[in-house]
Amino acid sequence: MDLIHEIKEKAKQHSMRIVLPEGGEERTLKAADIILEENLARLFLIGNPADIQQKAKGFGLKNIDKATIIDPVSHVNKARYVQLMLDLRKSKGLTQEEAERLIEDPLYLGVLMIKAGDADGEVAGAMNATGDVLRPAFQYVKTMPGISIVSGAFIMILKDKEFGEDGLMVFADCAVHPDPTDRELAEIAVATGKTTRAIAGFEPRIAMLSFSTKGSAKHAMVDKVVSATKIAREMDPSLKIDGELQADAAIIEAIGRSKAPGSEIAGKANVLVFPSLETGNIAYKLVQRLAHAEAIGPVLQGMAAPINDLSRGCSVSDIVNLVAITANQAAGMKG
Ligand code: ACO
Repeated sequence: MDLIHEIKEKAKQHSMRIVLPEGGEERTLKAADIILEENLARLFLIGNPADIQQKAKGFGLKNIDKATIIDPVSHVNKARYVQLMLDLRKSKGLTQEEAERLIEDPLYLGVLMIKAGDADGEVAGAMNATGDVLRPAFQYVKTMPGISIVSGAFIMILKDKEFGEDGLMVFADCAVHPDPTDRELAEIAVATGKTTRAIAGFEPRIAMLSFSTKGSAKHAMVDKVVSATKIAREMDPSLKIDGELQADAAIIEAIGRSKAPGSEIAGKANVLVFPSLETGNIAYKLVQRLAHAEAIGPVLQGMAAPINDLSRGCSVSDIVNLVAITANQAAGMKG
């Protein structure tokens, strides 16, 4: 059974409530139809009800009636959510007028539904930029206890099964936090370990990547990765983690043995934690394009509830897959 099939089968068992704030968008609507047909999640579609119904009819979709459509302008919980916004951000200068305007923005409404306990997770980004999807989530849903930053992991499905876990690897942070400190990098490693167990379904062997292996180069950037490795081990002693390692020492057995003798990770890593967003984002895109790998994600990690961001170039099946992943994350968080 392939990974996506397994993720979908698990999602069916949980029946989580997922919000799609871009409810009137064509790919989102077509994905919703498949999600509802396959019972992967219960759905809230945010958008104008008449517009959604007319489009669903036009596309020949048969299952959209099973979703709950939320009109951002006139839904019943509007006043309750405005009050919740004020409770949470009046001290940051949010005014009643601003809150009343923002709650009509589907990206704010979606996260407020989650914060109020009316939904379990969200998938957006088919027509909105990453920052616009993440900012409301950061402001209202915030991070989980013990984690101060959100980051984004990709599950990489490689053609070459000799790498990682039978061809599966997890890369992070490839999507969110531009320049992490040592402590933040440690948090990214710990969060990625959890994502690997929960979503990719294997035990992580984490390499903290650098341009140096075990002191081969001296630089403040190397020191940051060494320190992050130490902090991550303290934060979660159950994790198998080593650094600093160069990419070749992390994934090629013979090079790992010669550059980092005695390391239980070198040459066997199935999770790569990059020292910055620049390196992580560039690396995942190169592996995706040059090695023809499938990149599933970004799976956002560290948020108090699962909110995931699509690429604006996403396909219908990307949306279906990310909703299934989000449903699994939500179920995992509910314990
Ligand atoms: N984790 C958790 N909270 C965060 C994070 C983070 N990584 N970054 C910012 N925040 C919080 C702040 O603490 C702040 O909270 P507050 O208002 O309660 O005090 C709030 O978010 C807004 O903070 P700003 O500093 O104003 O954040 P800003 O909106 O400028 O930027 C953003 C945040 C949008 C995520 C920014 O870091 C960003 O653009 N990152 C890059 C995203 C990106 O473009 N990725 C590449 C494309 S994705 C892809 O290729 C797959």
